[in-house]
Amino acid sequence: MYSESVPAASRKPITVPSLRSMKGEGRKIVMLTAYDASFAARSEEAGVDVMLVGDSLGNVIQGHASTLPVTLDQMVYHSAAVARGLSRSLLVADLPFMSDRDPAHAMDAAARLVAEGGAAMVKLEGAGHVCETINALVQRNVPVCAHLGLTPQSVHRLGGYRVQGREDEAAEKLLADAHAVAAAGAELLVLEAVPARLAERITKALDIATIGIGAGPQTDGQVLVIYDMLGITPGKRPKFSKDFLAGRGSVVEAIAAYAQDVREGRFPGPEHQY
Ligand code: KIV
Repeated sequence: MYSESVPAASRKPITVPSLRSMKGEGRKIVMLTAYDASFAARSEEAGVDVMLVGDSLGNVIQGHASTLPVTLDQMVYHSAAVARGLSRSLLVADLPFMSDRDPAHAMDAAARLVAEGGAAMVKLEGAGHVCETINALVQRNVPVCAHLGLTPQSVHRLGGYRVQGREDEAAEKLLADAHAVAAAGAELLVLEAVPARLAERITKALDIATIGIGAGPQTDGQVLVIYDMLGITPGKRPKFSKDFLAGRGSVVEAIAAYAQDVREGRFPGPEHQY
């Protein structure tokens, strides 16, 4: 039930430049969150290309209602644990709330995530003034993943966890923001909870790869929160997620099924998109 017949240890490592090659070759990028070494190792074994140490750990590990309480020390701790579980997957770590409030703080925070946490790339939310920070990081050789659409660190401004970019004006703004983060030097773009047609438009317009979560099937890759896709997050599962463990015998089988469904265009289905 594994997505690739070559054992993980002998597969080529995924690097930052390989993300653009994968987009160019039309090979879907499989991304999944991880917060510890064991899940990271099992995810890599199951064929995941990019592991995200998301600040969603505030929700699924710590039990908070948002990602806002997560600290940089916690992100570094979890990132270092995940790094110890990996040998070929690319490790991306989130800059937590306010650690990226200006370029200087973002560079200090990113330095810790890379040097102590073993991350190859850092992710930060938003565009606008954030583009200056993206550029500062990239100039200092820290690859950046941008994150647009539903940006959970803006939950209070957004008024909740809602789909973004539904109206024409908001869609045009999102497209402009996507161009801006790419021009600032981002090498990857997560699009969260945006209409599938808008995500497709953005994906076609950019040279860098897009990764969708609740953004339809036409992005260059997909990401899910691992606890959601194993069906163990308490409460209601988000519409865009799927329980891949249901009906399967092990966590590795579930993750391998997710990887295979993403690569073969079976996930997300129409029921997982807006
Ligand atoms: O924190 C996280 O896990 C994320 C993903 C949902 C994209 O940002």
